[in-house]
Amino acid sequence: MMLVLASLVAAGARAADPLDAKAELGRRLFFDPGLSASGKLACASCHNPHYAYGPPPGKALAVGGARMRDQGTRAVPSLRYLRSSPEFSVDHKFSDGDVGPVGGFTWDGRAATIREQARLPLLAANEMANPSPRSVVKKVRASAYAGEFRAVFGEDIFDESRRAFAAVLDALGAFQSIPAEFFPYSSRYDAFLRGEIELTEQEERGVALFKDLKKGNCASCHIVSSRAGVPPTFTDYDFANVGAPRNHEIHANANPRYYDLGLCGPLRRDLAAKKEYCGFFRAPTLRNVAIRDAFFHNGVFHTLHDTLVFYVERDLYPEKYYSHKAGGRVRQYDDFPADLVINVDHDPPFDRKPGDAPALTDAEIEDLQAFLETLTDQDALR
Ligand code: HEC
Ligand code: HEC
Repeated sequence: MMLVLASLVAAGARAADPLDAKAELGRRLFFDPGLSASGKLACASCHNPHYAYGPPPGKALAVGGARMRDQGTRAVPSLRYLRSSPEFSVDHKFSDGDVGPVGGFTWDGRAATIREQARLPLLAANEMANPSPRSVVKKVRASAYAGEFRAVFGEDIFDESRRAFAAVLDALGAFQSIPAEFFPYSSRYDAFLRGEIELTEQEERGVALFKDLKKGNCASCHIVSSRAGVPPTFTDYDFANVGAPRNHEIHANANPRYYDLGLCGPLRRDLAAKKEYCGFFRAPTLRNVAIRDAFFHNGVFHTLHDTLVFYVERDLYPEKYYSHKAGGRVRQYDDFPADLVINVDHDPPFDRKPGDAPALTDAEIEDLQAFLETLTDQDALR
């Protein structure tokens, strides 16, 4: 074993203990395009470390598949601050007495754990497009780090592909738990929470609006308080339908009968009968949100500012956001079938109708944005 560890260290990996060795192996897997059918797509191609493990500019609706021709149907999320997502549960009891879905991974929570999640991109036809777990294992076995794989998981690990595939998932999960990579808490807001800096007056106004139940009311879903000493992740991993407009950049949307309904399918299959959850997506973290260029599960908005304005204007000026039917009538909440629009959320700031005063003025939207910009980690490219 000593020898094995020594060779790992020599290879440049930090391998002080077996857990680190597993995580470092996960790093090799994460950055290896050789694990895809095209040979061109690594986890890191979509989840780029310079962008908080989110998409690089212009790449949120990623293209993958065996011939790199198949577009995804959802925006690539950041992989930071995911670790605190609880296991998915459809009838979780929240502290306010509400019962509803929570947690899991992906926009619809269909992967119960981060370890299980990795199975999806490795095998999805429009992502890394491997035909089977066995074919993934074959690639690992032929890789430059196969020896390290044996060193960490045992000389006989490749004998049984089911066990070897489980080890791939384990290693990827371990990598995605490295604090410095995946939850660095290095933003200006963290420095503020630690008492190291002060916020500007504008940023302070922004936090207040974020929390104010009658103004932004953002904190009711994007939790802002620390819990048990852990700084906030700006989500409660709760699900909601914010009425995101249809994104016509998504090829699948050329079919007028295609709808991405989140919890009730089509990517997720077990909750199709739960009509009350159709159109529900998991609230994402707002950490590093200011460096994104695609917002919401379908990436329909391209600037943070436009997204914030949507929160304010959705029901004041629906004609700005939704498609028009023949005859000019607005088809409000056009990314959901007409019988399901009752699921759209109407909590503040979504509690308005045409003619009402907006929940936030233009200046207040600027303040809110200034606050959200404090949530960018130090190492993220802006
Ligand atoms: C082609 C682009 C692409 C590749 C390659 C890719 N992902 Fe993703 N990833 C996505 C998209 C898009 C989603 C959202 C999927 C959904 O909601 O159905 C996602 C979601 C995730 C999530 C869940 C995030 C959350 O908010 O719950 C994790 C974890 C993840 N990916 C890890 C990985 C790992 C590990 C790999 C490599 C084995 C990988 N991804 C490869 C595009 C990609
Ligand atoms: C009812 C719960 C709820 C409230 C209130 C709420 N959000 Fe959200 N937020 C969500 C959900 C759910 C999503 C994902 C929706 C989707 O993808 O369809 C989301 C997505 C976002 C996104 C896009 C992030 C990304 O990575 O794509 C931003 C930005 C955002 N919210 C900011 C805010 C701000 C600012 C406020 C207050 C003005 C707010 N939210 C209030 C639940 C909420």
